[in-house]
Amino acid sequence: MSNTKELCICGIGPGHPDYILPAVHLEVKAADLLVGARRQLETFQSYAKTDLLFTGKLEQLEQDLDNRDEEKIVVLVSGDTGFHSLRRFLQQAITDRTIRCIPGISSFQYLYAKLGLGYENAFKASLHGTTTQFVSKLNEYESVFLLTDRQNNWKTIAGMLAKSGHSQATMHIGNRLSYPDEQIITATAEQLLQLEFSFSLCAVIIEGVTTQPIQHA
Ligand SMILES: C[S@@+](CC[C@H](N)C(=O)[O-])C[C@H]1O[C@@H](n2cnc3c(N)ncnc32)[C@H](O)[C@@H]1O
Repeated sequence: MSNTKELCICGIGPGHPDYILPAVHLEVKAADLLVGARRQLETFQSYAKTDLLFTGKLEQLEQDLDNRDEEKIVVLVSGDTGFHSLRRFLQQAITDRTIRCIPGISSFQYLYAKLGLGYENAFKASLHGTTTQFVSKLNEYESVFLLTDRQNNWKTIAGMLAKSGHSQATMHIGNRLSYPDEQIITATAEQLLQLEFSFSLCAVIIEGVTTQPIQHA
């Protein structure tokens, strides 16, 4: 027997409202409860929905959702639902609701598109709260895409590349992608180790070799 209550996980893209699919707006409009991080809830505040703030604590989220009676819950996640989002956790933790996903534009799709690159032969991984052995993948793939966090950031990546003999590898660093203050920097790992930027929300593509640092428009 299928559950009548549902939980819909919606990918809301890299951040700017222009990159949210209309299908996500329809789900939010129909929601009885909207769940998300502060900036995600703010994006949909015009719908004036009852909301629940996700503070990053998974156990708390599970408890909060356990106690809800609403028929239709919508959980907002950044980027796409299928790439390092809350999807896996929710599918395991929430067993009394039908779970659906609506896709969003991932930070990797956005950054590859902005640079005019393809990701058919790319290795994609996350350093966001986790580690991954990405250096060996440089020999197997045309490019490597990495999510980052404050600790495992672009400078850590540049350091790891230099240490493993890849100081001439090109890094494209995308900060606050899709927002008005978006910045994309292209330089070698070696060049980047000499530079300082305080990037907050950042994704990285590593590929080939470059000669001069480029600041993209
Ligand atoms: C929990 S992961 C979510 C990834 C998301 N599901 C996706 O498809 O892009 C969060 C990480 O995504 C990346 N990210 C998300 N939005 C971004 C943006 N607007 N600019 C740069 N990186 C972003 C950052 O590396 C951030 O630490």
